[in-house]
Amino acid sequence: QPHISYKDNTMHMEQVSITAIAKVIPTPFYCYSASAIKDCYLDYKNAFSQQDTLICYAVKANSNQAILALLANLGAGADVVSEGEIRRALKAGISADKIVFSGVAKKESEIIFALNNNILQFNVESEPELTLISEIASKLNKVAAISIRVNPNVCANTHAKITTGKSENKFGIPIAKAREVYKYAASLSGIKVQGVDVHIGSQLTDLQPFEQAFAKVAEFTTLLKSDGHDISVIDVGGGLGIDYDENETPPNKDAYAALVNKQLGHLNCKIIVEPGRSIVGNSGVLVSTVVYVKKGEERQFLIIDAGMNDLIRPSMYDAYHQIKPINHTNDKTECYDVVGPVCETGDTFTKNRALPTTQAGDLVGILSCGAYGSVMASSYNTRLAAPEVMVQDDHFSVIRARPTYDDIINQDTIPEWL
Ligand code: LLP
Repeated sequence: QPHISYKDNTMHMEQVSITAIAKVIPTPFYCYSASAIKDCYLDYKNAFSQQDTLICYAVKANSNQAILALLANLGAGADVVSEGEIRRALKAGISADKIVFSGVAKKESEIIFALNNNILQFNVESEPELTLISEIASKLNKVAAISIRVNPNVCANTHAKITTGKSENKFGIPIAKAREVYKYAASLSGIKVQGVDVHIGSQLTDLQPFEQAFAKVAEFTTLLKSDGHDISVIDVGGGLGIDYDENETPPNKDAYAALVNKQLGHLNCKIIVEPGRSIVGNSGVLVSTVVYVKKGEERQFLIIDAGMNDLIRPSMYDAYHQIKPINHTNDKTECYDVVGPVCETGDTFTKNRALPTTQAGDLVGILSCGAYGSVMASSYNTRLAAPEVMVQDDHFSVIRARPTYDDIINQDTIPEWL
């Protein structure tokens, strides 16, 4: 995490002291490094510079307009999964001809919206979806460019809730059955078959499952070509993991790009990659204040003002996130359970972790919160969504303000008949 460092014992994001930000923005808040995001994107770009590649950032990882605009300026496309994400991508300046639309449950209204905006392609996940897209396209006098998401039945070695390429998962069409589905697609007047799509899961920490999946996709693409389909695009999905733990070294982007080239290069197709986490994940810190240090009978709790509603990953996936003091003035360590304010035992960020001795009022940073942090937040317990701040060099801006209590309470209406 090269954009985070300690200067005078205080954590800095690029050249900005996080303590200084916390003086003007009450915690909890998310703090992102623009340079970190830019560097991760450029790493992908350089890694794939030898191949005709479009990098479609997976908007779901973090869909803040500032982040999308930053990536749009660098030439990124977008992988989206809803009309809302198409709207966000377009509004931030990502052009429609760089948008791919994934997801198992695209609804009629969303398909109409995507077709009217002339997106690059639909990644289709089922036969009924093909039928519906074709019908809608024909009505609109359009032809929808599609890839079919094939399910290669490989084990991604990641958390069960984020593995997607096994035959028991709801995603894609089993590769053994997909040949027929391509034949069906080619028979539909509203459809133009242009590619093959695969995505096997998220937070993959080694390349081997990708290698297996891409080998199957290569073989299958050759078969499709021999069947007469004009396959010009291969979308390899996202999923490259990041180091949540200091001791982890996930595969680097050059090795990943080399693998794509080795397995798929001979097919002369345009490659689409859909990275999310590996672009924004390590750019973000969730900054929180210790409200109380509570000594239980068996354990000590650091009760902080960020909760599972701000970052659900630990309770949902047992995810590990580094937790660091923002002001590192104490070398003595103690073991703590770090917990949030929400009324559930699952509102736990870590158990029994050795951290520098901490007092109420101290700031702590939960690292690697750039991806699947704020986007998965809720206002459970009527807690206000944590604001988001972006840092670049020596300055910062709020890129999403904290709502007011009125904002959220006034979303409700009491019926007049009550
Ligand atoms: N493409 C498709 C079709 C996807 O479903 C996903 C993620 C991506 C690309 C981007 O994957 P990435 O490069 O970020 O791994 N909330 C979970 C992760 C869910 C991932 C869902 N799909 C978490 O916090 O770990």
